[in-house]
Amino acid sequence: MMRGAFIFSAALLSLSYAKPLLSRRYAVKETHAVPLEFSRVGEAPANHLLRLQIGVKQGQFDVLEKHLWEISDPDHSRYGQHLSLAEIHDLVKPTDESTDLVREWLHEHVSPEHIESSPAGDFFTFTLPVGKIEEMLQTNYSVYQHEDGSKIVRTHEWSLPLHLHEHITAVQPTTAFIRTVPQAKTYMTASGKGEHPRGPPSYEGKPTVDKVCDTGAVTPLCLRTLYGTVDYKPKVPGRNQVGLANYLGELNNRSDASIYLKNYRPEAISGAYTFKQISIANGTLQQTPDTPAQLRAGTGIEGALDVQTILGVSWPTPLLAWSTGGDPPFTPDADNPTVDNEPYLTWVNYVLQQDFVPQVISNSYEDNEQTVPYSYAKVVCSQFAQLSARGVSILFGSGDGGVEGVQPGGSCKSNVDGRTQFTPLFPSSCPYVTSIGATVNFKPEVAAYDPRNGFSTGGGFSNYFPRPAWQASAVEGYLHTLGDEFEGLYNRSGRAYPDLAVYGVNYTIIWNGSLIRVDGTSAATPTAAGIFALLNDALIARGKPSLGFLNPWLYKKGKKAFVDVTSGSAIGCNTTGFVAGKGWDPVTGFGTPRFERLLEAVGL
Ligand SMILES: *[C@@H]1O[C@H](CO)[C@@H](O)[C@H](O)[C@H]1NC(C)=O
Ligand SMILES: *[C@@H]1O[C@H](CO)[C@@H](O)[C@H](O)[C@H]1NC(C)=O
Ligand SMILES: *[C@@H]1O[C@H](CO)[C@@H](O)[C@H](O)[C@H]1NC(C)=O
Ligand SMILES: *[C@@H]1O[C@H](CO)[C@@H](O)[C@H](O)[C@H]1NC(C)=O
Ligand SMILES: *[C@@H]1O[C@H](CO)[C@@H](O)[C@H](O)[C@H]1NC(C)=O
Ligand SMILES: *[C@@H]1O[C@H](CO)[C@@H](O)[C@H](O)[C@H]1NC(C)=O
Ligand SMILES: *[C@@H]1O[C@H](CO)[C@@H](O)[C@H](O)[C@H]1NC(C)=O
Repeated sequence: MMRGAFIFSAALLSLSYAKPLLSRRYAVKETHAVPLEFSRVGEAPANHLLRLQIGVKQGQFDVLEKHLWEISDPDHSRYGQHLSLAEIHDLVKPTDESTDLVREWLHEHVSPEHIESSPAGDFFTFTLPVGKIEEMLQTNYSVYQHEDGSKIVRTHEWSLPLHLHEHITAVQPTTAFIRTVPQAKTYMTASGKGEHPRGPPSYEGKPTVDKVCDTGAVTPLCLRTLYGTVDYKPKVPGRNQVGLANYLGELNNRSDASIYLKNYRPEAISGAYTFKQISIANGTLQQTPDTPAQLRAGTGIEGALDVQTILGVSWPTPLLAWSTGGDPPFTPDADNPTVDNEPYLTWVNYVLQQDFVPQVISNSYEDNEQTVPYSYAKVVCSQFAQLSARGVSILFGSGDGGVEGVQPGGSCKSNVDGRTQFTPLFPSSCPYVTSIGATVNFKPEVAAYDPRNGFSTGGGFSNYFPRPAWQASAVEGYLHTLGDEFEGLYNRSGRAYPDLAVYGVNYTIIWNGSLIRVDGTSAATPTAAGIFALLNDALIARGKPSLGFLNPWLYKKGKKAFVDVTSGSAIGCNTTGFVAGKGWDPVTGFGTPRFERLLEAVGL
């Protein structure tokens, strides 16, 4: 259950726009091609429970967007004047007409006390068995099986009463075949066992990259030295915080984090037991040993990488870790139906209701954009815009499969017509998040590729979101150099990503009590979050606002603080993929950050 949500009572209802006779005519609202990796294996059991989220058209989203551009543009007089929770609620609150019409329809199917409303009233949430939802949406749900054997209950099409089409923006879970893939890659030894933890190399004098960095074992001391935060002492921990999102049963084990910090950042060891954990929609906070099945699945590797990296880089900045449940693999069990929800929307809607939100949030999960229905991507992206307008920087890894999708081994085919294409990712394709690519090697850093596990840093162009103005000149410059190479494989007019990059190969992480090495944009993203958290610390200590939505600043001023990465590529689909070059590119963005230059770029 989402905390902070309130349940509205029948007494609040005013049905002044009720048009009961109109409500009987249905028409298809959305059709979404079932991803090629899924096949239908049967009808959905009528008693399977879904936690349905209904998005109601936000009253003045265009005004909110205009505010967001102004407060994020470093040359605008309103730069940094983030909006408050109440101001945002006023802007996204649906019109009375939308609210009344949607409620009237809902009450024909669900009793009012079972419906939760978001504080702004732009989302209604309730749990119902599939059989009832099928009546509401005039659809038939099915069980679909993924190539990996896991199952999910979804539909490829749903309908709404005609008069509600313009008032409802999205209903999920319906057509979203999201799997939320963690962007971390390991390679285990044949025994599947890790190594004994060992600390960083000993060195004398001031740390330098030559003394403390080893491409075979990357530690927080190396990252802090490389990016120049090693001497920075946080001044306002508490007022400044950093957040981390876990999905799909991923977990943050404190005991592993403490072994890591003891070896790699001893002064931070208390951080392992003091970071805050919050469960949303039954997300796991497990601190007991992994079960054999979890060990086989590597459960907790992503969570270990994220939490250990952030603490290693930005300690003593307090860390808040959310774990959102949902989207479980479907297990047919008539006696104990599991509740199935959509994790991003559940997470962002929870966070949006909080009075305090950490100023930087690290997210290491992505999906192939085409598995996400357009309506869902739009609604989630608009929720990210609200969080950005509050002064939060939302970071997502750009994916571990180069141009091939969320992981190596993608089909490189369109779900719609089977055409060969590069596969862009969501949420990186959402213009309101900052997408982080990965690098390898120190002198110089190049776009990350690891032949042993196929990890290749991701980049591409959205098919859903058009190119925003702030990146127009950077991206057009790249496209000009690219010419007609890869024509037809990507969308020239789409939002291009990543925006920047950070080191991402051979991080030494503690999992299940021993040392393993992990690659990924999932490694790069928490490091980037740690660096921006320290930059916010410096700003807040000087009485300035947090950076908030980074991209307009990054593409205008911030880019000067980055070292360009000019070789390597986003290998995938049996091609080199996009190639890194001089200036911005869809492989490493503007390159990797240097802290002293970031301080200068924000005027400190
Ligand atoms: C759902 O399935 C039933 C039984 O096969 C069929 O009669 C009905 O037309 C289907 N409804 C939709 C919306 O496809
Ligand atoms: C996990 O740790 C347990 C206890 O130390 C050990 O027996 C097991 O082999 C480890 N498994 C893996 C996959 O590391
Ligand atoms: C990563 O570490 C492994 C094991 O130490 C090493 O063999 C490999 O060369 C390293 N990768 C890079 C890019 O240095
Ligand atoms: C959370 O778990 C409890 C008990 O296992 C269950 O009753 C409840 O429906 C679950 N809630 C959600 C949102 O999954
Ligand atoms: C390319 O992107 C544009 C705008 O972002 C979109 O309207 C168009 O449908 C996309 N093309 C394809 C083939 O998806
Ligand atoms: C998590 O922590 C417990 C101790 O609290 C430890 O026994 C266990 O091995 C850890 N699990 C994993 C997967 O690391
Ligand atoms: C790449 O080439 C191999 C060998 O020809 C082929 O099996 C594979 O399907 C190709 N992959 C893609 C994504 O085209």
